[in-house]
Amino acid sequence: MKLKEVSKEILLKLEEAGFTLESIAIAQAEDLTSTLNIDLEEAKKVIIAAEKELGILPISAAEFLKLEEKRGKITTGSNELDSVLGGGIWTQEITELAGGFSSGKTQLCFQLCVNVQLSYNEGGLEGKAFFVDTERTFSPKRITEIASYRNLEIDDVLNNIIIAPTLNTHHLFSIIEQLEDVIPKERIKLLVIDSFASHFRSEYIGKEKLIARQQKIMQIAEKLTLLAVRYDIAVLVTNQIIANVEDFLYGSSEEPALGFAWAHRPQQRVFLRKSRGSARIARLFDSSRMPEREALFYVTEAGIADAATRDMYV
Ligand code: GTP
Ligand code: MG
Repeated sequence: MKLKEVSKEILLKLEEAGFTLESIAIAQAEDLTSTLNIDLEEAKKVIIAAEKELGILPISAAEFLKLEEKRGKITTGSNELDSVLGGGIWTQEITELAGGFSSGKTQLCFQLCVNVQLSYNEGGLEGKAFFVDTERTFSPKRITEIASYRNLEIDDVLNNIIIAPTLNTHHLFSIIEQLEDVIPKERIKLLVIDSFASHFRSEYIGKEKLIARQQKIMQIAEKLTLLAVRYDIAVLVTNQIIANVEDFLYGSSEEPALGFAWAHRPQQRVFLRKSRGSARIARLFDSSRMPEREALFYVTEAGIADAATRDMYV
């Protein structure tokens, strides 16, 4: 456990007493004074430090706006898609890309693993990417192609992407737990999980496993939100789609998998679908700050592009 402006001794005592960041944040200052043998003022400071760390300290809307303006955004490679997303993929939140086969989810993830490394001026965050690969689809060859079209140093680009293949949900959770150490140490600015749905859908089959599945999804989603806020990183997850018979929510006969336990977790939800040839359509369908809108982008040899830029790459 790490808490800014709290001494190591106090942290140790908190850990020994079984406190987590969350339980400190909701503790009564009086309770901490006796457990830690500190005065009330000091106990209040510890609670505020935990609230800050979790990003739950009450602040004015004006301060909130200032913090929001400072948040990092990673360009997707398509200006049109960036504009629909409010500047790209934002830090401190979860963005979901849902779509069918070949809709462009993995290609967008690859592009963002490269783009996060760009300078701030170029639309990056000068950071590394951590790619959780649940489907064994990571392709260094594809990363190399994307990077070479942008004249980037290939070895650096590849070295700045950490790939973690996962076997099942248990393994996925243990990798996510380890990220507490890895993210700050490696200057990770983008965490990708491609695909978030696959382990859940193959392991928790049948109605009797639904509750266990929902609990696990919530547990992991909570951890992802915490990592996003605490370390100011962008979390990008892909999701599969399932047939939807009663459809008024998503405007098509398909909807993202994983149900309601997951549906409220991502701050930005994007639905991807194929168009003609290499064209793809992205629709932002659930966002707390942007209107529902569509963007047309292309999957080219050089990666993600707009109509205007794609001809440069083919
Ligand atoms: P699933 O993982 O199958 O659910 O699909 P996805 O949405 O992840 O699709 P993905 O992003 O892998 O593929 C989108 C499109 O990118 C496909 O139609 C591929 O043809 C295209 N694509 C994949 N690799 C390359 C490549 O090396 N060059 C080019 N030009 N296109 C590619
Ligand atoms: Mg894929």
